Amino acid sequence: MADTIRFLLGEEERALKGVSPTLTVLEYLRRHERRTGTKEGCAEGDCGACTVVLGEPDDAGGVKYRAVNSCIQFVSVLNGRQLIIVENLKAADGTLHPVQQALVDYHGSQCGFCTPGFVMQLYAGWLEGRLTDRQAVKDWLAGNLCRCTGYGPIVDAGLEAGASAPPDKAAIAQTAKRLAALDDGSALHLVHDGQQVFAPRSADELAEIYAAHPDAVLVAGATDVGLWVTKQHRRLTALIDLTSVKNLAIIEEDDEGVTVGALASHRDATEAFARLHPDLGELMRRFASIQIRNAGTVGGNIANGSPIGDLPPALIALDARLTLRRGQEGREIPLENFFIAYGKQDRAPGEFVESVYVPRLAPDMSFVCYKLSKRFDQDISALMGAFRVKQRDGRVAEARIAFGGMAAIPKRASAVEAALTGTLVDEMTIERAVAALAEDYSPITDMRASAGYRLKAARNLLRRFFLENGGDRRSATRVLEVA
Ligand SMILES: Cc1cc2nc3c(=O)[nH]c(=O)nc-3n(C[C@H](O)[C@H](O)[C@H](O)COP(=O)(O)OP(=O)(O)OC[C@H]3O[C@@H](n4cnc5c(N)ncnc54)[C@H](O)[C@@H]3O)c2cc1C
Ligand code: FES
Ligand code: FES
Repeated sequence: MADTIRFLLGEEERALKGVSPTLTVLEYLRRHERRTGTKEGCAEGDCGACTVVLGEPDDAGGVKYRAVNSCIQFVSVLNGRQLIIVENLKAADGTLHPVQQALVDYHGSQCGFCTPGFVMQLYAGWLEGRLTDRQAVKDWLAGNLCRCTGYGPIVDAGLEAGASAPPDKAAIAQTAKRLAALDDGSALHLVHDGQQVFAPRSADELAEIYAAHPDAVLVAGATDVGLWVTKQHRRLTALIDLTSVKNLAIIEEDDEGVTVGALASHRDATEAFARLHPDLGELMRRFASIQIRNAGTVGGNIANGSPIGDLPPALIALDARLTLRRGQEGREIPLENFFIAYGKQDRAPGEFVESVYVPRLAPDMSFVCYKLSKRFDQDISALMGAFRVKQRDGRVAEARIAFGGMAAIPKRASAVEAALTGTLVDEMTIERAVAALAEDYSPITDMRASAGYRLKAARNLLRRFFLENGGDRRSATRVLEVA
């Protein structure tokens, strides 16, 4: 196994060892490289001030670039990749990159603290060709906060940058070759001062290493684990970085359903989810920010067992199945059975989440999922309701309903389902089901919402489902309609 992290910092090659495996990319840049253009605002992935771009070879001889929050990424993620930071954008002769020039021209900066983050996020949008219209630029910037300038000039600058000449494909192909030359295909094992990280390259290697080190913390997108270090100041002694396990990042679709590998990022999975149902696509658009969706994984969102994770209730309502693996042994379980109690999942030591399978909806099924949070963008749910209901001849033939934020785990509403199944869809049935919600859940009060709010909002979401999907009772209820 290699004991050195090899990567490109801009165009310069770096070989890094003798550092803590939980050193963040931001700390590495500021303290080790003395490149202080990248700023720290929140140190928890929320403000975007620390945005950098990571590139890795794609299958077409090019480089796949993605913006991430450097404050919550650990250094091992750099292995075999290109790290592009704000200092790399200005040309040697002092010419600003079109993104930087547009921010100057449109007065998109005042105190300037947020500006490097905006520059890098817009730069990533320019690389990906995403700065196409006003709404696209706003969505693209949902993870970047500015307290002074106001977003109007920044969005204008984004549009201007989006219209500038596209990236140089020949130069990108050259970078891909340099990255390929850095990579001898071996796993990484970095040891420093009582801490170690492994970065396996395949599911088989991962299975072997995890079986030998079942106490190690698996790190996928680090959008949770990063905060254990930056906010909870936990010392993690053994980690397994999953970001190079490419065969766990698959997304396979057929007529029956979709299989999403645990390592597929939220961003990569969005289109496949949207094809399952537009509501799922809309849920992903509102899931955190582009930077978090680039790093965070579907497997991490399930494995962390959070009662307020967005995907589990939706996938439980869709009757998803989870595949787990330990060593050479695999097993498949209904996703709902994975969540046992708060902080307790059905996962043995050394066992990891391999993939989730989501069946398509039958023609007579309706599906919706509703996320309620204090902000539209970049906010974790106070409450999340997902409904899959089969109706035939005005009756409910089958109901699968799951909520997040209502219990210690994402959980089905079995009493509600029983109250609905086999009955005529009318006012009385719906109100009986609404009343049954109190049998299913006793929500708690916390900083996101009170227990009373949660129960009342869940009841209203159930009524809303039937307003949108109750045969001739249909009516429009959405401020923002999905396609
Ligand atoms: C600013 C911000 C906004 C967020 N917004 C949202 C939001 O809107 N909705 C939402 O649901 N969540 C949100 N989150 C939480 C988080 O982004 C997601 O839960 C994400 O999916 C976690 O995935 P990850 O790959 O980053 O997990 P990691 O942080 O890498 O890991 C999370 C946990 O899962 C374990 N794990 C990871 N992969 C596997 C695997 N394959 N097998 C077994 N265990 C595994 C890890 O050991 C760890 O315990 C947000 C987080 C931040 C920082
Ligand atoms: S410092 Fe705020 S997102 Fe990283
Ligand atoms: S210019 Fe001051 S925070 Fe954005």
